[in-house]
Formats: sequence, structure tokens, C-alpha cells
Amino acid sequence: MSTVIETDEQPGTRPERRPTGRSVLMCRPEHFTVVYRINPWMNPAQPTDTSLALTQWQVLYDTYLGLGYDVQLIDPIAGLPDMVYAANGGFVIDNVAYGAKFTHPERQPEGPAYMDWLRGAGFDVHEPEEVNEGEGDFLLVGDTILAGTGFRSDSLSHRELGRIYGRDVVTLRLIDPSFYHLDTAVAVLDATPGQEHIAYLPAAFDATSLAVLQERYPDAILVNETDAAVLGLNSFSDGYNVVIASRATDFERQLREHGYNPIGVDLSELLLGGGGVKCCTLELRR
Ligand code: ARG
Repeated sequence: MSTVIETDEQPGTRPERRPTGRSVLMCRPEHFTVVYRINPWMNPAQPTDTSLALTQWQVLYDTYLGLGYDVQLIDPIAGLPDMVYAANGGFVIDNVAYGAKFTHPERQPEGPAYMDWLRGAGFDVHEPEEVNEGEGDFLLVGDTILAGTGFRSDSLSHRELGRIYGRDVVTLRLIDPSFYHLDTAVAVLDATPGQEHIAYLPAAFDATSLAVLQERYPDAILVNETDAAVLGLNSFSDGYNVVIASRATDFERQLREHGYNPIGVDLSELLLGGGGVKCCTLELRR
């Protein structure tokens, strides 16, 4: 028997990008509007167009179906206009869901609504003790969970995460109010253990967190302020196809150079609520 460990990753060459199937949860923006302001993107004085939001969201939904993903839907609830941002509804690994507990009262009823859905879909749901906004602030990269704090999720939730999943949790502190959730400042491009690859906006992090990112991900894609400002990082990757904001043109080029297949979608209406592609997507890891 051979003891040679085979790896397709050689120094100086990039791993071949391969898509792996995805299962996601989404919420149709039937009640989307901006009537309160809990992040700098939101301006209740500026009108929103719910039917345009629905049309744009539908393109994202159809894109996922076209990529062969399993897309589940949770019923939208009247009076919860931010429910379209499903990423905040929880965090799921290996059939185990950590429920969300929202920072702002406006979104708090979403926590139990998403937990009910997850329970009904057969996930083992852990009721949260600590304030956390789900996959908006928690990203699985390899065997590690990157966990954001500073604006929404309490750092105590990072310890709760570690207890539930028994995995390494790396705390990252966000410092720019425009990038208030981790998924607005970091994109996970390849989560496969051994070939982890991310993109991020350096200016979104404090010095300690930036040093952690630089050390752990020396080959990360660094995204510029212009692309970050259209929530370009708020994207969804299956390891090869990366669904991004169509306006993030430099990021699109960078992705191509790194062997990915970027797919642009326009969610400008949902950007008025401070969310993009990833915010509308909660990954369901069975
Ligand atoms: N209006 C929502 C909020 O401020 C937007 C959530 C965006 N979601 C995300 N995963 N980044 O809570």
C-alpha cells in the first residue's frame, strides 16, 4: 500500500475550482420596505419599490435553481420587512442549527419564525442565549467558523457557537458601520478544508482582526472600497460559481483571474435595506 498523500495543490499553482451542490433557504420580499433605520444604508425617507425588489430577488432565486441548488422558502411575515435577509435567520452545520437572537427589536420576531421553520425542516435547533444574527456574522471556512462582532452579534455568542459545534471560532471585530455584518466584509469563496479561500475588505476590520486574516489567508482576494460599497463581498460561492453584485466589476475580474465563474445579479432595491446576495441566502448544511 502506498503511503503517498495525493494532493492537487502544488506550490505556485491554484487548485482547480469545482462547484459542489448547495442547499439554501430564502424568503420572498413580499413585505420588503424601509420603515426604520438600523444600518447606514437604510433611509426611511427614501421610497422603496416592493415589486422591483420581488423582480430582482426572483432573478437571484432563478440563478440558484439554474445552478442546480436546492432552494427552500420560508413564508414571509407581514410587518417584518427585513425577513428577506434570510442569512440572519440562523446558522446551520451538520443538521444542527443555532437560532438567531436579533440586536434590534424591529427584527426580534424573526428569530422564532426562522427557528420554527428550521425545526419543521428537521434540523436540530439550539435556542440561542446570546445575541447573534446567524450567518450574517458567522461564516464556515474549512473547519473553522469566522465570527463577526462589533455591531450586531455579541462576542459571547462566539463562545456559545464553539460549545454547540465543537469547532474553532475565530473572532473578527468590525469597525465600519457600513459593513456591520461579517458577510458584508468577507466572502467565502472556497470553504473546502485544505483549500480555504476568501475575499475581504481590509478596512472593515480592527488591526488585530486584520492581522489574523492576513496570517490565516495569505492568498485572499482583497476587494477595493468601490466594490465593497455596492456590497460586492456579499456574495455566494459554491466553490466555482460565485453569485455577486453585478456592479462589483473589479471583484468580478479578480474572481475570473482566480479561476472562478462570477455571475452578476442586480439587487439594487434590496441594497436600500443594507443587504445583497449573501444576506438573502441562508446555507442549509445537512
Ligand atoms: N436591514 C437589515 C439589517 O440591518 C439588513 C440585513 C443584511 N443581512 C446580512 N446578512 N448582512 O439587519
